[in-house]
Amino acid sequence: MSAVLRAEGLWKRFGDQPVLRGVSLELSRHEVVAVIGSSGSGKSTLLRCLNLLESIDDGRILLGDDDISDPRVDADRVRSRLGTVFQSYNLFPHLSLLDNVTLASRVVRRIPRRDTEERGKVLLDRVGLGAFADEHPDRLSGGQQQRAALARAIATDPE
Ligand SMILES: Nc1ncnc2c1ncn2[C@@H]1O[C@H](COP(=O)(O)OP(=O)(O)OP(=O)(O)O)[C@@H](O)[C@H]1O
Ligand SMILES: [Mg+2]
Repeated sequence: MSAVLRAEGLWKRFGDQPVLRGVSLELSRHEVVAVIGSSGSGKSTLLRCLNLLESIDDGRILLGDDDISDPRVDADRVRSRLGTVFQSYNLFPHLSLLDNVTLASRVVRRIPRRDTEERGKVLLDRVGLGAFADEHPDRLSGGQQQRAALARAIATDPE
């Protein structure tokens, strides 16, 4: 099976400190992979490199057949093909849950609001938050925020 995401020899340094030292991995469609390591060992940094929120110092990242570590790529378009649940969730505090879940589809995918809201409600239902669609994130528990972030991460049908 061909890999949907492939990282080859990723290096990332913060100043003099190497955090990723030649990390390679390969993900097939529907495969689940857990990255395990002690606090500060570079797990979040790896994910932030894979979705282009951090630049890499060396190596290559392929999404499908596309080299997304090529500096000429349109990073926003690449990120719309990936879904991320951030460690601190990073929900937009000034937006309702429904708007949190639908914003990327409206802005990046340019899907009309009515269509995104239908799907957004389905996604919120799926994570057990259908009754919270109009609430703001500060009214939610930590686990509820995590589930809202999960619904947001899959809203654009990432690869
Ligand atoms: N923007 C940054 N600038 C400088 N150093 C950073 C930056 N981000 C992360 N680091 C450093 O990189 C290392 C890896 O951090 P990272 O957040 O990837 O760890 P982690 O494995 O996700 O840890 P945790 O399990 O605690 O979430 C740490 O030493 C951290 O201090
Ligand atoms: Mg982390």
